[in-house]
Amino acid sequence: MVDVLCIGHVAYDVTLPLKDYPLENSKYVIDYKIEGGGGPASNAAYLLSKWGIKTSFIGLLGDDAYGKNIIEEFKNVGTDTSMVKMAKDYPTPYSTILVNIKSGTRTIINCKVPYSQLDIDQKDLEKLNPKVMLFDGHELKTSIKAIELFPNAKTILDAGSVREGTLVLGERVDYLIVSENFALSYCEMESLKNENDYEECMSKMKKLNKHGQIVVTLGERGLIYEEKGKVKSLDAYKVKAVDTTGAGDIFHGAFAYGLINNYSLIENLKLSSKTSAISVQTLGGRKSIPDKDKII
Ligand SMILES: Nc1ncnc2c1ncn2[C@@H]1O[C@H](COP(=O)(O)OP(=O)(O)OP(=O)(O)O)[C@@H](O)[C@H]1O
Ligand SMILES: [Mg+2]
Repeated sequence: MVDVLCIGHVAYDVTLPLKDYPLENSKYVIDYKIEGGGGPASNAAYLLSKWGIKTSFIGLLGDDAYGKNIIEEFKNVGTDTSMVKMAKDYPTPYSTILVNIKSGTRTIINCKVPYSQLDIDQKDLEKLNPKVMLFDGHELKTSIKAIELFPNAKTILDAGSVREGTLVLGERVDYLIVSENFALSYCEMESLKNENDYEECMSKMKKLNKHGQIVVTLGERGLIYEEKGKVKSLDAYKVKAVDTTGAGDIFHGAFAYGLINNYSLIENLKLSSKTSAISVQTLGGRKSIPDKDKII
């Protein structure tokens, strides 16, 4: 049995910190690089384990050096990886992340992998019996199986972009926490800048999810959410960002922690905002996840 089950994408990220954005056909020397596992559900699972929550991750890895490295990282924080599959004919998804440390922005170059979906045996899944489940739209088949198997678990979707997986799960979850990119694309809007935009966005988002709590994260501008029929906003913490990689993943992981610990919605949004604001001040995705005692 576990407290949280995270299902979704896992990749190997190599972060290259640059003093400025590179120019075409030029050469740069950097002092160091950061590498390790990444991916929304995977980073959330890592945070939860690091914070002492019994967490299981389900996702697909290649049976290669990157895959082995990621399993090792999970084991170091105590994540249950018994249902992670390492496939022989599948390369671990790989990304190079160029971070401009002046602005904190990140440019991700993703190496495409063949489409592949995990199919976890129902009997194996049953053993987990989680209280909270977090999805990112990848591994749709297994995510739906888990929703049907554990109807009482609270569910969170980290929706980064509009795709089949995020749309199907977006309808069903209790907490639909989407990126600005997802909201603009789903709502067919140009920008999310003022209260009129926020109202329009929320009313359109409610067509996707009619029963749950919707939150739209807006990077350094914070987030919007709805409470008792009113659209509200919460500012981000004012910090100097050096690398925003994984801010959203870390936000969602912290939110799952808040659900396990029965935080109220606003307490939970503050906890998640604070955790991600601390993370953007340090380089790396999961390497920038703060210790729990820095937050709580
Ligand atoms: N520059 C920043 N300063 C302070 N807080 C930030 C900053 N960037 C992100 N955050 C916090 O993290 C939350 C999530 O960030 P964001 O909206 O960028 O997620 P995202 O679009 O899912 O990004 P990704 O998945 O690529 O990490 C924001 O709502 C905010 O609270
Ligand atoms: Mg995200």
